[in-house]
Amino acid sequence: MKKTLISISLLGLDYGQLNAEIKKLEPFADWFHVDVMDGNFVPNLSIGALVAKWIKTKKPLDCHLMITNPHKYLEDYAKAGARSITIHAEASKHLSNDIDKIKALGCKAGVALNPETPVSKISPVLSKLDMVLIMTVHPGFGGQKFMPEPLEKIRWLREHYPNLDIGIDGGIDDKTAPLAVEAGANVFGIGSYVTAAKDPKKAVEKLRKAIQ
Ligand code: DX5
Ligand code: ZN
Repeated sequence: MKKTLISISLLGLDYGQLNAEIKKLEPFADWFHVDVMDGNFVPNLSIGALVAKWIKTKKPLDCHLMITNPHKYLEDYAKAGARSITIHAEASKHLSNDIDKIKALGCKAGVALNPETPVSKISPVLSKLDMVLIMTVHPGFGGQKFMPEPLEKIRWLREHYPNLDIGIDGGIDDKTAPLAVEAGANVFGIGSYVTAAKDPKKAVEKLRKAIQ
């Protein structure tokens, strides 16, 4: 059984005092999930490497690049301190090259799949990936409703790649996370469930109990 990890998304935080907000959440996070949006691949803009480089945390930064032409920016995120960089299969023009580049930069390499994208799209590169991130919402916004259909992809991946980190992202809470565990996910990207909670500590505790 792969270690269960909670990767808290920064998307819902107050970017005006990001490091103070991160400090509060740090004790409960295994990783921090940095949602990068370009207003092109997804219909929203968030932060980029220029902001990410100022993030102060002892926890690993897990950068989720929802951007077109990710190859142009990989080095920026590596320099900004990313421990892992996840690019979208739908956005990368040369997926295999981009993965090699992420690794050459000293980062773990992940590929994300939108809800409608089949796993077959990444078959040629699966064996060299550190993580596959299965989206259970259409990327672009936090706080959306969980889509159960992509769980099938997780089931297939876990069966065929028992040692792979399999992440899930979008609409995860204490009700949906157990479905993801049952399917075989081990990395949980969590946004609004924690960042909009009155008591984030309690929310994470509840979530950890639900996925034990
Ligand atoms: C969606 C982002 C997710 C999102 C998670 O585009 O990639 O990481 O912020 O937020 P919740 O958990 O609120 O769906
Ligand atoms: Zn994300």
